[in-house]
Amino acid sequence: MRARHVAVIGTGYVGLTTGACLASLGHTVVCADTDRAKIQRLREGRVGILEPGLADLVADGTAAGRLTWATGTGAVFAPAARPVELVFLCVPTPMGAGGLADLGILEAVVDEIRLLVPAGCVVVTKSTVPVGTAERLTQLLDRPDVAVVSNPEFLREGTAVQDFLHPDRIVVGSDRREAAEQVAGLYARLGAPTVLTDSASAELVKYAANCFLAMKLSYVNAVAELCDRVGADIVDVTEGMGHDRRIGQEFLSPGPGWGGSCLPKDTSALLQLADSADFEFRLVRAAIDTNIRQHKRMVDKIRVAVTGRQAGSLSKVRLALLGLTFKAGTDDLRDSPALAVAALLRQAGAEVIAFDPAVPPAGEQAARLPFAVAGDAYQAADGADAVVVLTEWPEFRHLDWARLAGTLRTRAVVDTRNLLDPAVLVRAGLTWTGLGRPVRSALPEEEAPEAVSSPAPVGAHP
Ligand code: UGA
Repeated sequence: MRARHVAVIGTGYVGLTTGACLASLGHTVVCADTDRAKIQRLREGRVGILEPGLADLVADGTAAGRLTWATGTGAVFAPAARPVELVFLCVPTPMGAGGLADLGILEAVVDEIRLLVPAGCVVVTKSTVPVGTAERLTQLLDRPDVAVVSNPEFLREGTAVQDFLHPDRIVVGSDRREAAEQVAGLYARLGAPTVLTDSASAELVKYAANCFLAMKLSYVNAVAELCDRVGADIVDVTEGMGHDRRIGQEFLSPGPGWGGSCLPKDTSALLQLADSADFEFRLVRAAIDTNIRQHKRMVDKIRVAVTGRQAGSLSKVRLALLGLTFKAGTDDLRDSPALAVAALLRQAGAEVIAFDPAVPPAGEQAARLPFAVAGDAYQAADGADAVVVLTEWPEFRHLDWARLAGTLRTRAVVDTRNLLDPAVLVRAGLTWTGLGRPVRSALPEEEAPEAVSSPAPVGAHP
């Protein structure tokens, strides 16, 4: 594999992961961002993103001299600098008006580098961009000596480094084959299956994949609801489904809804794209609707668990919410289903107080929330009627549930992630309500030890 000289524009979680990982593969990388303070922090080795392994890669790359930093794009292409062979554009493409991706930042960067990129350079889009963007950027660049390539990323927040270094596949698309091969060559050491295609197809792979994942999750959430209605257990149902290799075990856990900075944005964007192509993509529409309904369904479950009623106000009900981030292992609150559920609970009159290991009460994120954030789960639960688990932080499993039971007024725990061990909760005197699984009520004390210690049947889950 030939070591290349690469520039990465944008040091968000995609840009920084791309830069640090490419440096770890032996390439020389300069990462640029307009945020001077952020670049200064990175120079000092302060990564500022909760992403396992990233800080180490940044430190290693910097120490080896393969990873350097620049404020703005000018310094990247300064005449004295070594000519850049590939430029990765990793700037945000937020959801704009009507659900379409807003390409304002991307186009501004292209305009800025238009006359700076050296002849023969390859410009690579890494951000999730609508189909046709590579073609549009080629026109904007107006540089026949510079190729544009689409190389979508499939990184998950919280496992981005792992996903980058052990990818299921690499997708590279361009109408200039040689440029696409150069980009694919950067990853040669990873030995991943590589799909070389045209730019429109590469751009569509990203949306098609994320929307498929969203549909899978909405499907599993709907099956969990059906389990609730017919008395089946979603854990066994999904295990039985997942052994089919065509389905797979992953992405089959029901939850309070899918969220984050990608799936909601990309499902809306694909609907827009389909609309503009005069195609009504009903499957994706249904996945979004099911997701919105899921938030409401969580509130209904909580209402039943706490008040015993199917409908009505939650005024005078105080709830301890465990977890605010859109999934565990990240501090990201963007489009978090936990926040959507919290908002609906408050609308119904409930008072909520939350705890999340990645959202400290004195931090900026907590300050922006319309409800109180506690320093730990016990503080949140003090004087609450019930506990609601909204994010699957593993540490919640090991809370002192007996201590929590002592402070809860209704002794109800609603576990929207099926995270906790119901037997442990029952032993602590609590009633556990999950998703698509039978409610487990606290047993009379004399029966509890026997019930808990009896061996679980083969194949049974906690
Ligand atoms: C998603 C995709 O998984 C990545 O492949 C893609 O690269 C990324 O978007 C992107 O476009 O940049 P991410 O947003 O980090 O990654 O989050 P996921 O791990 O996909 O989780 C999305 C949501 O689904 C979360 O709210 C999570 O809690 C939920 N989820 C996930 C479930 O409810 N159940 C599951 O079994 C899995």
